[in-house]
Amino acid sequence: MIGVPQLDTPLTIKGTQIRNRIVMPPMVRFGWADESGKATDRFVEHYARRARGGAGLIIVEATAVMPNGKLAKSQLGIWDDEQIPGLRRIALACRKAGARVLIQLNHAGANTSRDAIGELPVAPSAVAVPGLSSDDEPPRALSQPEIRAIIRAFGLAAARAEAAGFDGVEIHGAHGFLITQFMSPISNRRSDEYGGSLENRMRLAIEIIREVRGRVGPDFIIGYRLGAVDFIEGGLTREEGREVAQALEKEGVDLINVSRGLPGDSIPDLPEGYPFDCLVSLAAPVRESVNVPVIAVGRIVEPATAKAILARGIADMVAVGRGMLADPEWANKAIAGRDSEIMKCYGCAGGCKRASGGCPWGKD
Ligand SMILES: Cc1cc2nc3c(=O)[nH]c(=O)nc-3n(C[C@H](O)[C@H](O)[C@H](O)COP(=O)(O)O)c2cc1C
Repeated sequence: MIGVPQLDTPLTIKGTQIRNRIVMPPMVRFGWADESGKATDRFVEHYARRARGGAGLIIVEATAVMPNGKLAKSQLGIWDDEQIPGLRRIALACRKAGARVLIQLNHAGANTSRDAIGELPVAPSAVAVPGLSSDDEPPRALSQPEIRAIIRAFGLAAARAEAAGFDGVEIHGAHGFLITQFMSPISNRRSDEYGGSLENRMRLAIEIIREVRGRVGPDFIIGYRLGAVDFIEGGLTREEGREVAQALEKEGVDLINVSRGLPGDSIPDLPEGYPFDCLVSLAAPVRESVNVPVIAVGRIVEPATAKAILARGIADMVAVGRGMLADPEWANKAIAGRDSEIMKCYGCAGGCKRASGGCPWGKD
């Protein structure tokens, strides 16, 4: 690429032009969906507002590929053809406003509850993982036929996303959900070909990507949200995260959205000289390791921070999460240099009266 990309520099992925570098990352709207998982007017307007607000790429929130993969009782679903019409309304509303739109596909694995899914949560192994499951009731280990059914469910979900008019999907391989649970030696204690070496631990992700690729057209974008490191001692290392990123690229992933893997309070050693949020800093080593575009995220609220991330080559795109929940017009204002007009949210966990988009945490 020639020159330093600006916030409004377009980016083309697989022939799809994205009008600028600003991404709305996936953010579940807790309590908005009913148990059928269908999208309602409220979702359509929520995403359309951020598309009208200038975001180049919208990634619709974690959407369950199977009923037992829900992370909460109330969550968008994509496991049934009946869910396509509602999702189509979201995709079309965003595209009409000039944005490109992906939908995030997820299976929560152990990172849910019996109350949410009506059965014991599943996982690579029957071990309780801090922050994911309770010691009293560890998850149930998946059998190989069940793993194959999950892989197929991701593929079918991607085909539904394409039928609904999305430009692509993002496979959720971060934040402690099922794919991360397989990736991490902490939660994956399997002795079959899905456990042990990194190659085995990433097998689920690779097989999902292949399945998705086989069920969608050649121009359909496949993004991946990468848990580049676990925030827990003994988990996936930063070096392993780079290896996974390279394997994803080899499998034809078109876009990597960098975040963390398993939760915890062990913040990894970060590359020197990046005065940004630790999640943003995680994008740098990934971007050095691959040629596909990389998204950085993490408390980007000031346009100057977003510009610096692009200018320093930490990432190709910047995602503004809570900032864009607080101000749906964040992208337009940032691009126009109207910084002082941006309504800011620093994630105070609720009750912010200044946020024009309502409380990002759904407490409005
Ligand atoms: C309310 C809320 C819901 C979220 N839901 C998701 C999700 O569905 N999928 C996902 O990958 N990340 C999810 N995230 C993480 C965001 O995508 C983003 O990485 C995080 O908020 C950090 O960015 P920010 O500091 O700009 O908000 C969620 C974050 C918030 C605040």
